[in-house]
Amino acid sequence: MDLKGKKFLVIGGAGFIGSHVVDQLLQEDVAEVVIYDNFFRGRMDNIERALEDPRCRLFEHGGDILYPDILSKAMEGMDGVFHLAALWILQCHEYPRTAMDVNVQGTFNVIEACIKNNIKKVVYSSSASVYGNALELPMTEDHPYNNFTFYGASKIAGEHFFKSLGDRYGFDWVGLRYMNVYGPRQDYTGAYIAVMHKILDRIDKGERPQVYGDGSQQYDFIAVEDIARANILSMKSEATGECYNVGRGIGTSIKELTDTLIKLTGTDLEIEYKEAGLTFVTNRIGCPKKAAKDIGFEWTIDLDEGMKRLIDWRKSDIAALESRRKQVKGVGHDNR
Ligand SMILES: NC(=O)c1ccc[n+]([C@@H]2O[C@H](COP(=O)([O-])OP(=O)(O)OC[C@H]3O[C@@H](n4cnc5c(N)ncnc54)[C@H](O)[C@@H]3O)[C@@H](O)[C@H]2O)c1
Repeated sequence: MDLKGKKFLVIGGAGFIGSHVVDQLLQEDVAEVVIYDNFFRGRMDNIERALEDPRCRLFEHGGDILYPDILSKAMEGMDGVFHLAALWILQCHEYPRTAMDVNVQGTFNVIEACIKNNIKKVVYSSSASVYGNALELPMTEDHPYNNFTFYGASKIAGEHFFKSLGDRYGFDWVGLRYMNVYGPRQDYTGAYIAVMHKILDRIDKGERPQVYGDGSQQYDFIAVEDIARANILSMKSEATGECYNVGRGIGTSIKELTDTLIKLTGTDLEIEYKEAGLTFVTNRIGCPKKAAKDIGFEWTIDLDEGMKRLIDWRKSDIAALESRRKQVKGVGHDNR
């Protein structure tokens, strides 16, 4: 799709990845970008800058994919939809019933609204979790669904909803199976935080970074800015009816990751090895060739550069949160 003069709805657009999709869409010559989010995990901070652009707004009647009539209203007049709203793997693990509603029923609602509103193309955020642990490396898109998590199950369901209904109703769609995404705006304060933030949290407190097991578990880490670009390229491309890995195709072990964070933060703290805990997957590296061929996606940000950006953003975000807390306390004092 040529993006010039087109209108887009970004569902989950106030979240970590979605807000970067919004930013990159606004770098294109698009007519309108509407953000649809219920702020379950999204943050206003993530989209404040984007909302200063007159082409961008938050949908004014609501933002939950579980409200089909409001969702359908938000899609009126849109050309393309990016669907990123979902509960994350640990939330799905703890609350499968809610995950059933949001990831499964919610995705069905999105597709139904797309059909009703003649949306030309949808880019769906799937996940490499559909694969589970690698049976062979690198994992191509034909790798079996070796998944045992409810999160992965919900993403497999979503992919198949798109496959079946896209075929039946003739709308274009692409599913993106992201590998391990990291970068600015990644949640580090909530109940569910990613491994690099756990390591950085300990380093910040002057405690030794902990690695569970021997640290040989390896993943394909990819920067969020690259993931957002894969979304834009998917919308622009002719590709349809297919799922693509979005990763670098490079494995990094948790020990290597921790060593990189130790180097970049300049700490002299050493790794503390702990007994292995709850881990869903220990080995996952995606083959990036199909995405390169069909949507022209190639990664650009290496681990050192990406981690530097993450560390810098985290520092400035923590400082901004602290200063806001102080201001709020100050206001309280003045009012007394
Ligand atoms: N971050 C990763 O490493 C990763 C890896 C693979 C796949 N994904 C997928 O990418 C997508 C975006 O992930 P993220 O990391 O940005 O997560 P995120 O939690 O930051 O973003 C999801 C957004 O969806 C919103 N949302 C949740 N429930 C909603 C509902 N009922 N209605 C409307 N909005 C709702 C949240 O408020 C949030 O802003 C998700 O579908 C996720 O499963 C992420």
